[in-house]
Amino acid sequence: MKTNIEKAGILIESLPYIRKFSGKTFVIKYGGAAMVDEKLKDAFAQDIVLLNFIGIKPVIVHGGGPKINSIMEKMGKTPTFVQGQRITDEETVDIVEMVLGGLINKQIVSLINSHGGLAIGLSGKDGNLIKAKKKVIRKLSPETGVPEIIDLGLVGEVEKINPKILDTIDESGFIPVIAPISAGTNTETLNINADYVAGEIASALKAEKLILLTDTEGILDKKNKLISTMNSRKIKSLVSKGTISGGMLPKVQACQNAISNNVGKTHIIDGRTPHALLLEIFTEEGIGTEIIK
Ligand SMILES: Nc1ncnc2c1ncn2[C@@H]1O[C@H](COP(=O)(O)OP(=O)(O)OP(=O)(O)O)[C@@H](O)[C@H]1O
Ligand SMILES: [Mg+2]
Repeated sequence: MKTNIEKAGILIESLPYIRKFSGKTFVIKYGGAAMVDEKLKDAFAQDIVLLNFIGIKPVIVHGGGPKINSIMEKMGKTPTFVQGQRITDEETVDIVEMVLGGLINKQIVSLINSHGGLAIGLSGKDGNLIKAKKKVIRKLSPETGVPEIIDLGLVGEVEKINPKILDTIDESGFIPVIAPISAGTNTETLNINADYVAGEIASALKAEKLILLTDTEGILDKKNKLISTMNSRKIKSLVSKGTISGGMLPKVQACQNAISNNVGKTHIIDGRTPHALLLEIFTEEGIGTEIIK
């Protein structure tokens, strides 16, 4: 049991961080176990509400891969991925929009509200927040070694963020919760990887921090040991060796993109740890991997 004096000490230790970060914007990508496990969900929502009450402006962008997979399977469809990105046909994009923009987005909004916050859910379509175009990726053909275009279907790439709606939400004191979906050039719905959306929104808002929650301790080396700081050179080398792959690729790209656009700091942290956000923000050493220039 902590004595009351010890409790007061812990609160006082957070004072320098509160002073430093009050009034600043933190963009947080919410995904993985922290979105599934009941205790972790509550701890996340409490952290967000606490940050908000001390004057930090959290902006949440969420994923929802596992739920989309399970609903697709119930509907007789098999989820497929290339380079960590979902192949998305017309039926799949409808499922993505229903699950992300409806079910999951509103669950997060009510979770935050149940802890005393005032959250508001939106997708990239609302207020034209995200302008996107169809994404094209290339892969070297194993037979010829020539790059081939891979059609991911209705997968988008952010062209521009229109932060006006976020400014309005901020002025009214609400906490925005964003589903990574957008309308494309011909009003078709596009599914965008949430890590990229979080990175682009952090850049557009000149956020103090971009924090990506995931299901690993951070970036791991080939012996599965946590790497606490990484720069572009190290990332390039680990990507070319295949040590960084799949779902970690969009994360490192999002962080690199954000820091080159004046976002203060970027972190990939373990969402399986209760109150991971507080541990990152209110301790000198932080947790997970910090990505620097
Ligand atoms: N070097 C690496 N270090 C850590 N994880 C890695 C590495 N390379 C690849 N990964 C994979 O990246 C995964 C994280 O990305 P993933 O897309 O699966 O989850 P998420 O983005 O947190 O959730 P969601 O996509 O549902 O929002 C890890 O679970 C791991 O399998
Ligand atoms: Mg992912």
